[in-house]
Amino acid sequence: MAPAVSYQKPLIGTSWKMNKTNREAIAYLTRLQERVKTIAASVFILPPFSVLSDACKFLQHSGSNIIIGSQNVHWDDYGAFTGEVSAPMLKEIGCQFVEINHQERRRWFGETNETANWKIHAVLRHGMFPIICLGDEKREEWPLTEAFLRYQLLQLLTGIGPEVATNLILAYEPLWAIGAAEAAPTIHIAQVHSLLRQLLAEKYGETIANAIPLLYGGSVSRKNAAELSTLPNVDGLFIGRAALEADGLADLLEMALTSQQQSHSLC
Ligand code: PGA
Repeated sequence: MAPAVSYQKPLIGTSWKMNKTNREAIAYLTRLQERVKTIAASVFILPPFSVLSDACKFLQHSGSNIIIGSQNVHWDDYGAFTGEVSAPMLKEIGCQFVEINHQERRRWFGETNETANWKIHAVLRHGMFPIICLGDEKREEWPLTEAFLRYQLLQLLTGIGPEVATNLILAYEPLWAIGAAEAAPTIHIAQVHSLLRQLLAEKYGETIANAIPLLYGGSVSRKNAAELSTLPNVDGLFIGRAALEADGLADLLEMALTSQQQSHSLC
């Protein structure tokens, strides 16, 4: 049976990508903790490998519930894979989340649907939560986008059964909106997230599909965080550049929460 899910929605976080030394990381986490102490959301940070152990220790020591995860993992538990890091290594230092299949891993490091699927299995096998990125590579007509996403999702989830599916987290990250001037249009995000929910329901049934958080990532910023977080089927945000400073992330969290509370009070 899957371990209990230890986070709540909205789920909002960032990958630092290849940024921050240990010293910079601890300064960031110190500031972030001050800002998010009383916040009713789950916050995750994905630092580079070199920082993970210190970040986990620092947060455990201070009793923080900020979640730490890694940006990659190898699919095997150990072996002759120079330069790689395995799921047991991540688990032992306290990582809970592992990001898989980010567009930059695909573009620069040859990640494919197949290797991403192996990695998802490894993460689940060790009781962690995979943040599975997926997304269209070009802006196309809806039927093409739909077919692309349907195919990619089913490939990524090959062999992942309902008994572990509630540990999945999906992040819709269209290549064309990452590192861009603007996020994807809200109408497009809403359409994709509703498709993803429907595909998950077809595979796992509605109850499990509704329990899987669907995050949006790609040029989330102060301009759009409030609006994006009230879209149907958007359960959280995955932020890059705008969260490279702790105050940037904390500000976006506050904006997202305020706008969610306002939209609930209007219902
Ligand atoms: P960005 O990055 O917010 O800087 O576009 C998003 C991502 O790569 O997840």
